[in-house]
Amino acid sequence: MKRRSMAIVGLFVIMTLLLAACGGGAAPAAEAPAAEAPAAEAPAAEAPAAEAPAAEAPAEEAPAEEAAPTEAPAEEPAAEEAPAEGVVTLTWVGPGPGAEFEFRKEQAARWNAANPDIQVRLIEGPLSATDRYGLYLQAFQAQSTDIDVMQIDVIWPGDLAEHLIDFNEYGGAEAVAGDFPAIVQNNTVDGRLVGLPWFTDGGLLYYRSDLLEKYGFSGPPATWDELEQMAQTIQDGERAEGNQDFWGYVWQGAPYEGLTCDALEWVYSSGGGTIISPDKLITINNEAAAAALDQAASWVGTISPPGVTSFMEEESRRVWHGGNAAFMRNWPYAYGLSEGEDSAVAGKFDATSLPGAEAGMSAATLGGWQVGVSKYSQNPAAAAKLAMWLASTEEQKAQALSPNSLIPTKVDLYADADIVANRPFMPKLLPVFTSAVARPSTASAPQYNEVSNVFFSNVADVLTGKQNGTDAVATMELDLQDLLGYEVGAP
Ligand code: GLC
Repeated sequence: MKRRSMAIVGLFVIMTLLLAACGGGAAPAAEAPAAEAPAAEAPAAEAPAAEAPAAEAPAEEAPAEEAAPTEAPAEEPAAEEAPAEGVVTLTWVGPGPGAEFEFRKEQAARWNAANPDIQVRLIEGPLSATDRYGLYLQAFQAQSTDIDVMQIDVIWPGDLAEHLIDFNEYGGAEAVAGDFPAIVQNNTVDGRLVGLPWFTDGGLLYYRSDLLEKYGFSGPPATWDELEQMAQTIQDGERAEGNQDFWGYVWQGAPYEGLTCDALEWVYSSGGGTIISPDKLITINNEAAAAALDQAASWVGTISPPGVTSFMEEESRRVWHGGNAAFMRNWPYAYGLSEGEDSAVAGKFDATSLPGAEAGMSAATLGGWQVGVSKYSQNPAAAAKLAMWLASTEEQKAQALSPNSLIPTKVDLYADADIVANRPFMPKLLPVFTSAVARPSTASAPQYNEVSNVFFSNVADVLTGKQNGTDAVATMELDLQDLLGYEVGAP
């Protein structure tokens, strides 16, 4: 009975953390951790235990309708039943609601059936990467034992390393032997392997091949100017034929980590650099970057819906999926879903590299997720075992072939017969993924999250007309100097 009530209390704490992280919409959760980031260097023991109960407060304030999506966690083992003697129960914070979560649920069920002694309870995480970071940080600062297994964004190993176990102590070196070395290296912080590569990501341009043909275009655009022209022509034509809901281009414009990804693509593909250079110079204050942001702002309300400034990945995908956009910027997960039976664009689209300011200057932001285990887990060995299974070649193949079409980090899978036959876009676009441009997370760790906040907040102000590109990049430079104390330089 005692174990049972502890499990319920633990779940409650996670739920309140989730509510706290999700409650404020896309951006605010990201601000909170800012002041605490330096603690990343201090031993975790400093996080006062007294702070833990504070996490309960937001639950009272959270309106019922906001609570609803997170209140129905997909628990594979029945929550009411106390685990049998000798059975370890792990909590895994999975993706936000959607197709990937459905796949994870099925994975958790398979694991639970095969591992009676290590049962996993899967719960939904926040959809926004920014909110997810806020949630983890809160849990880590309270040294919470409530989360065992978690998904770690490619930008977080440096910021979160001190709260994660070293997989090298659990056979991790062998587990990552077949992964792309650059991704393994990204997960290695001071010699510690803090995450297992799970799937990689790169920004893609999705386009309606049927509509390009209909309007006489011979192929997808190589430059942003070409994209604008094509998007406008197709939008005008489709609306004239009666579809008033049709838009030229949908992308991610809400103020959160996804906007950092999109805007880095605009800036880098214009010769404006990577915000902070790998040798730690603040490079964002330049004309090319300013012009790229102004150009993106000009899309809002013309070729892109006014509401794009609150779109995350799924909002843009919904417009596309319904057949109401000529072009979409999104990650590879949208490929498989766009081929689904309920998709209006199945058989009518393809994906390729994003445009650049000039032909050949294309850039894809590097994304991707790792599996991590909290250092505060009471069952790190069991959690590591589950994490290694989730990141295994077999499970990576399953998730690549699932409707989520997640891109493997295991080199051999690109030559796997089933992947080649059923996911031909993966080997075809491999060069896009392997040459993707990284966000400046290594150069700014453990403060990348705040760097990204400075960047996407100012970009959002350009998109909504509150400041122009030139002022935005100057403000970013000042804020980043204050934050990091780095010198400025040319991109
Ligand atoms: C995708 C990427 C991740 C990125 C996020 C932003 O999930 O894999 O790296 O941070 O999108 O929304």
